Amino acid sequence: MRFAARVAREAKVWAQSDAKPVSTFADLRPGSYKRPEQVQGQIMQLFLDTTDTAVLKDLAETGLVDGVTTNPSLIAKSGRNMLEVIAEICGLVEGPVSAEVAAMDVAGMLAEGRKLAGVAPNVVVKVPLTREGLTATKEFSAEGIQTNVTLCFSATQALLAAKAGASYISPFIGRLDDHGAEGMDLISEIRAIYDNYGFDTEILAASIRTPAHVKEAALAGADCATIPPAVFQALFKHPLTEQGLQQFMADWAKTGQSIL
Ligand code: E4P
Repeated sequence: MRFAARVAREAKVWAQSDAKPVSTFADLRPGSYKRPEQVQGQIMQLFLDTTDTAVLKDLAETGLVDGVTTNPSLIAKSGRNMLEVIAEICGLVEGPVSAEVAAMDVAGMLAEGRKLAGVAPNVVVKVPLTREGLTATKEFSAEGIQTNVTLCFSATQALLAAKAGASYISPFIGRLDDHGAEGMDLISEIRAIYDNYGFDTEILAASIRTPAHVKEAALAGADCATIPPAVFQALFKHPLTEQGLQQFMADWAKTGQSIL
């Protein structure tokens, strides 16, 4: 993110807020100041990238699943009717549930997207990052239908999606890595561009393959990450947590005490 642009933007927000304004440029250096609430944005949201409703139900019990993303490959993997599975998922999580159109033309995308949006109020219509997809996104945005623009592989594609009014942009980290690029750089680039101009399109880090991807996406300032179930499960774990807990439990048993 360009530091000067952030300073200018934050100073503007401070000027409009009731909070105590920064007094010097140094107050705005990372780590030395508290960002105003309006700029701090939301807590990073974690979505599950799945159509497996049993797995979703189980992980949703933690209260840590903020939403769900699906795609045509995941629908095919479920072996279920798309509208049914999307409706079931929408009943399991309150947050956004991405459901992807299959049409390639604008009229088809609009018809499918409106139908998908009618399944539940938390459906986000997922649209591919093509010229037709962005034309449809612009129209969905005018109609108040939430969109997730998917298959984003460049910062300029993300710029166009934001200008089209996308609610979310999905840069595909893992697939870029597979292609010999540094997928995470794309998240940083998009963050900088969106912050430079105050776009409120949320950056949804997608095609996540490892817990390290989740960490790096968070460090790069992604608003959300969509995570396959196995990687989500792995986020809870660390061998030192397991070892430490075993030792604590063994020592606790020796005390013969009970807290309740
Ligand atoms: C989510 O919106 C994407 O469809 C998904 O993250 C793609 O992941 P993959 O590259 O592992 O298929």
